[in-house]
Amino acid sequence: MYLNKEQERALLGENGPAVAKAMEILVALGKIFEAEKLIPCTSSQISGVSYKNIGSAGADFLWDFAEMGAKAVIPSYINPAGMDMERYAEMNLTSEYIQGQLKIVRAYAKMGVSTTLTCAPYQIGVEPSFREHVAWAESSAVIYANSVLGAMTNRESGVSALCSSITGLTPYYGLHLEENRSAEILFRVGCELSDPVDYALLGLYSGRLAGSKLVAFEGLSPDREDMKALGAALASTGGVAMFFIKGKTPEWRVTEGASLIDVEPSDLENERAKYTDDGQDGAEAITIGCPHASLAEIAKVANLLRGRRLKKPLYIYTARKLKEQADELGYTEIIERAGGSIFCDTCMVVSPINRMGFKTLKMSSGKAAHYSPSMSQVGVRLLPLEKIILSETETV
Ligand code: F3S
Repeated sequence: MYLNKEQERALLGENGPAVAKAMEILVALGKIFEAEKLIPCTSSQISGVSYKNIGSAGADFLWDFAEMGAKAVIPSYINPAGMDMERYAEMNLTSEYIQGQLKIVRAYAKMGVSTTLTCAPYQIGVEPSFREHVAWAESSAVIYANSVLGAMTNRESGVSALCSSITGLTPYYGLHLEENRSAEILFRVGCELSDPVDYALLGLYSGRLAGSKLVAFEGLSPDREDMKALGAALASTGGVAMFFIKGKTPEWRVTEGASLIDVEPSDLENERAKYTDDGQDGAEAITIGCPHASLAEIAKVANLLRGRRLKKPLYIYTARKLKEQADELGYTEIIERAGGSIFCDTCMVVSPINRMGFKTLKMSSGKAAHYSPSMSQVGVRLLPLEKIILSETETV
């Protein structure tokens, strides 16, 4: 792989041991994927933040890296942590867990990474533009950046995104090259999708068939919330990093000879059945916000809750910046008055929600429905947001 003189010197340690380590990792990654060179990237989004996921070994690695002098040289952002950084006392966590999580977030802050703690940076003003090269790691953010924004990123790991943060560079391969941004499977959707949950079901179904191939869809007319749900689900059952929807995504490219798959209503109904457990309706709590809830979703919940009271706990997960806006707009007050809560910095999957005593959750997220049984040992009921709220509230 070609390195210019400056990059060679950085690799040899001219800019300190942390930069040399980061260069070493990026060069090794580039060689594996046969990248011809490293290119500058304008932002990094780093996963590997929750103590639940990376534990004390991950916390020590990050702290040591920060102590070595690692410093972000491009705008860098982190994924949700394993707890709300202000309300962790309400989450029934051990003190070891809390200390470990604090250490992780402090390590990122010491490295100059913005502690945004959200998987949806595009909802708090971090929107790379068309053809902008970035190094993002969170799979739902990667697919959104490539597909909806037209930015260019591979599906980075937490470590490689951190290395990009320290060097401002990323290996030039995969989705950084225009010729690789083309769908190998075209799904022809023959059913009406009317809710983000329908898009999530389509994503779960098609992601399973696609594996890591790029996909295109015909017959859809989604808005951005729908595309957010579709992408997050596609990136869960599959390793899909980009999708195309004619007239809706900034790019539309289908490889000649791509596989054609017709999607029938029964395909989505079968998918729905997989995520409602045993067909029963019961659940102990409601979780909303995977990927992190947008202000529009919070507003929708608040409007549905006006004049109603929840029969069970409801948790909305979002970025702290959006919670502050929800506070100002009065949404938080309506939600809390009805018995719900808005948690920041974390989510139902990367926090140990089973420690709060819940065995089954109602949710509107395909991604959370896919991961919660294995990552949080809870059952799931995947339903439209409106249906959940109306069935779990009473008028006051
Ligand atoms: Fe975000 Fe947690 Fe879902 S990190 S995409 S809300 S699993």
